[in-house]
Amino acid sequence: MAVALRCDTAGHTLSLSLLTARAEQLLDLCGHAAAEWSIALVGDGEIAALNRDYRQQDRPTNVLAFALREAGAEMPGRELLGDVVISLDTAAREAAAQKITLHQRMTVLLIHGLLHLLGFDHERSDQEARRMEAAEQRLLAALEHTERRGTMVKLAINVDHVATVRQARGGAEPDPVLAAGICELAGASGIVVHLREDRRHIQDRDVLLLRQTVKTKLNLEMGAAREIIDFALRLKPDMVTLVPEKRQELTTEGGLDVAGQQKKLAAVIRAMTKAEIPVSLFVDPDPKQLKAAQEIGATFVEIHTGRYADARSEAEAEQEFELIAAAAEEACELGLRVNAGHGLNYRNTAPVAGLGTIEELSIGHAVMARAMFVGIDQAVREMLALLP
Ligand code: PXP
Repeated sequence: MAVALRCDTAGHTLSLSLLTARAEQLLDLCGHAAAEWSIALVGDGEIAALNRDYRQQDRPTNVLAFALREAGAEMPGRELLGDVVISLDTAAREAAAQKITLHQRMTVLLIHGLLHLLGFDHERSDQEARRMEAAEQRLLAALEHTERRGTMVKLAINVDHVATVRQARGGAEPDPVLAAGICELAGASGIVVHLREDRRHIQDRDVLLLRQTVKTKLNLEMGAAREIIDFALRLKPDMVTLVPEKRQELTTEGGLDVAGQQKKLAAVIRAMTKAEIPVSLFVDPDPKQLKAAQEIGATFVEIHTGRYADARSEAEAEQEFELIAAAAEEACELGLRVNAGHGLNYRNTAPVAGLGTIEELSIGHAVMARAMFVGIDQAVREMLALLP
């Protein structure tokens, strides 16, 4: 299967890898997994010129398809479908008018172009237009289904509170490094620690040892302070999650204001990217923050589930849940990978885990609190049992 996607225009933020993956999925869903399809993303000027030269219409359009089958250019042994040209300028305008993301609009245009390459033509007759529209809807639904089925939510355990108990006496036990090993043996897919500037729980020694012992994935949660950034660059965890950090707070209170400090956070992301450390930004379920996270090159966002977890009524929890669901959806569409966490426990985790758009949950306090009574192994397994 080969999709050759090229972008010949600047000024639009979108994930070419996400679109390529979707184009490949679409070929597969249409039963042409081995076919070759070329896609060019251009500006209005270029598509207007093509529209004039090939269709005698001197204006920009959203998508043009040039089928090789139609042109009789079939090659034995290779299935070359042809070229689809999409104007990103027009797609962006249409996305704004429809209040959807550019990726969502691009996906529809990719489907439309592909169906033209496969011989559909809505201009032939009303009946053909209805047939093509039905095929478009089917493919869109199938693509969504395939993408969701591919996402199996994982559980990362935050072991900060093992260190909190140790620090209460300033001694050596209980050891968060040992706890992390037990979590991994119980099935956790990752270990999270927050190295705070005041070192109130996790210590440098813990993180250095965890770097050597964690077999799954070490996610270092941290504020964007110079000293901690330098520490992370030396340590090279598997990923970092940037959080706002205030000395007086009991725990991380809100999401990062990414939109308000894009320059500062972009510099941290650049430094981490150079060291090959993927960055996640801990954000409230707010479209403005997601867009800002994408613009500065974050790989992941971790959606703050605290307000959902702290809701005082079912109605409030439902409302907060809807915000999380919509934010996770939007983040995926922006090409971001999505994690979630904060305040999740044995009663409220299942709905979030079931969303299908979230890759990993980061859970600490509830699991460690339960571990006091049933042991860490059992507490992790019980949480894993709640995931789909
Ligand atoms: N994610 C982030 C970014 C956090 O700051 C925390 C708390 O350390 C968690 C997840 C885990 O939250 P909880 O301990 O409430 O499960």
